[in-house]
Amino acid sequence: MERYLNRFDKIAPVYDFIASIVFCGAIRRAQETHLNEIPANAKVLVLGGGSGKWMGRMFQLNPGCTVCFIEASSRMLTLAKKNNSKHSQQIEFIHGTHLDIPVVQFDVVVTHFFLDMFSDDNMIDLIAQIKQRMRENGIWLVADFVNGRWWLNLLLLVMYSFFRLVGAIDAMKLPGWQSAIKDCGFFVVQSKHFFGGFISCQSFKVSS
Ligand SMILES: C[S@@+](CC[C@H](N)C(=O)[O-])C[C@H]1O[C@@H](n2cnc3c(N)ncnc32)[C@H](O)[C@@H]1O
Repeated sequence: MERYLNRFDKIAPVYDFIASIVFCGAIRRAQETHLNEIPANAKVLVLGGGSGKWMGRMFQLNPGCTVCFIEASSRMLTLAKKNNSKHSQQIEFIHGTHLDIPVVQFDVVVTHFFLDMFSDDNMIDLIAQIKQRMRENGIWLVADFVNGRWWLNLLLLVMYSFFRLVGAIDAMKLPGWQSAIKDCGFFVVQSKHFFGGFISCQSFKVSS
């Protein structure tokens, strides 16, 4: 897999604003869903965390957690540092990709609107990599898009075209992330949907 950096730099300053307008705040609600499942003082891995605004809620619920925050865009990373300056002692910020995950075991992995950027083949490798870095009984919190009604699928098409046009992604369609995660030995613990079922938030654990 290629290690691409800074592809979201151009849109980083407006990303949260556009997402909140287009999805009427559902993105933020989805990011904050299931954060209450994070065990006290957990070691959390965040992949492609964007501006990291949602982490304020995580630290409110879980003041003792520590975070490894890996983000490919330097401008997003700068925003995440600014948005979480009160907790900088608890966060290790890494300018890198999923190929730069430190070799430690995490209690929790968080991927919000991250899997949708991968092709089906690359996502299978990514899921295996995430599984390797999770402690036994660890939790994986996922929020991402799923195929829905025709007008939502049309919106998805517009989104993919936009992100490809600005050079942020190569993917052209949503990968089958839910079935791929289950095929890799995970089961769903909690599930919630937003925006007419277009956004799915699921927490997963590994089957023993
Ligand atoms: C669609 S945005 C989602 C941001 C954030 N998670 C959210 O929910 O708003 C995807 C983010 O992942 C970052 N990214 C893309 N590929 C990555 C990779 N391979 N590893 C880490 N971050 C990546 C991008 O720079 C971007 O900030």
